[in-house]
Amino acid sequence: MKIAVIGCGYLGAVHAAAMASLGYETVGVDVDEAKIERLRRGEPPFYEPGLPELLKAGVDAGTLRFTTDVSEVAGSDVVFIAVGTPQRAGSDAADLTYVDASIESLLPHIGEGTLVAGKSTVPVGTAQRLADIVAPTGAALAWNPEFLREGFAVEDTLTPDRLVYGVADGDDASVARLDEVYAGILARGTDRLVVNFATAELVKVSANAFLATKISFINAMAELSETVGADVTQLADAIGLDARIGRRFLNAGLGFGGGCLPKDIRAFQARADELGHGQTLGFLREVDQINLRRRDRMVALIDGELAAVGGDRVAMLGLAFKPNSDDVRDSPALDVSRTLQERGRVVKAYDPEASETARRSVPTLEIVGSVDEAIRNADVLALGTEWQQFRDLDPAEVATKTAARVIVDGRNTLDARAWAAVGFKVIGLGRPDTAPAA
Ligand code: UDX
Repeated sequence: MKIAVIGCGYLGAVHAAAMASLGYETVGVDVDEAKIERLRRGEPPFYEPGLPELLKAGVDAGTLRFTTDVSEVAGSDVVFIAVGTPQRAGSDAADLTYVDASIESLLPHIGEGTLVAGKSTVPVGTAQRLADIVAPTGAALAWNPEFLREGFAVEDTLTPDRLVYGVADGDDASVARLDEVYAGILARGTDRLVVNFATAELVKVSANAFLATKISFINAMAELSETVGADVTQLADAIGLDARIGRRFLNAGLGFGGGCLPKDIRAFQARADELGHGQTLGFLREVDQINLRRRDRMVALIDGELAAVGGDRVAMLGLAFKPNSDDVRDSPALDVSRTLQERGRVVKAYDPEASETARRSVPTLEIVGSVDEAIRNADVLALGTEWQQFRDLDPAEVATKTAARVIVDGRNTLDARAWAAVGFKVIGLGRPDTAPAA
């Protein structure tokens, strides 16, 4: 079986490497020459645990190739579409430019027997429209959404919770083809659901909307907890023990960011508006607002502590939107850092992997090479991303390296008692402050 993957970003690069690891002759296609050059050397253009090894294995074995020439997809049995669908400039809707362009570019190179399988996250209705464009070539189209999380992309691709195939009515041939592609994964008993196009498209966006809602729900409880003196982490533990609710994705803090959840809930809302269902998904606007308010809260807490100690220097630990990623797209930690800086505060930030991406995104931000450098002259410490490195910090050692005696934990991840024991005031989001031990 020969596989092509159009788009070599997070989704496509991982998918191509995974396909090659399953033993298929795979070609990854992208218009970005620099990205393709790196991938050819077996180097991912972004940080993703496990991916370098997978890429190198495929490239060295000769089963995985990368090219900017789309004509090289000719002869492929399956062509996956894995290009980005970012938020459209000046609007909440998804920008389908890359999806449309990739389909157009494929048309001369596909035909009877080719399956075009969309993986990108698209507004409901897109797959049918694309199927109509592809039909005259004789190729078939399926929608096969991807649910990978950054930081776990390889694991999520090779051992997914479920496989979803969206196919045209009665298109058993496409189902059989996808079953063949995923045979190794299905053999492990992975659930596989065959649905129509609209359902497949909705599965993806509704899953992300649900996850975003779950996070904003607990962050709404955090807002209330701050007023009434409750502890949102204990609240999450307690309600999470109800199996119907579950503890996962109930971590209150700075909220969600990244290249998926924020733009996907906005695009979903925008699509619902177009469909005359604005009211149906109106709650997603609230979900977005609650999420963004947590960033304001973090800024206010840091500002308040700076005022209390009469200083203006902040050490920000973490800039990535979540740990194990160098992605700063819509990152709460980076957003808070930028806002503090705009308000005249002196921010020194450190992130184990995201320095480069953060520097490109906010060139004025001072990003240093170590925790020690960030905290040295700080008045207030802040944690924006829960990297293991920060969880492992020894508070006693930190206390010897900075005069700051306050840490604002934006991810409710530190052992507050251990920090308080060596003299820190620990402030979380949605929980009472932990006073320094006398
Ligand atoms: C998400 C979905 O999980 C994935 O299924 C989809 O395919 C793409 O979008 P990802 O963006 O990689 O994946 O990150 P995820 O691990 O879901 O985290 C998203 C954001 O939510 C992060 O900023 C994270 O810090 C935040 N989060 C997550 C919380 O604030 N609290 C939680 O309890 C969980």
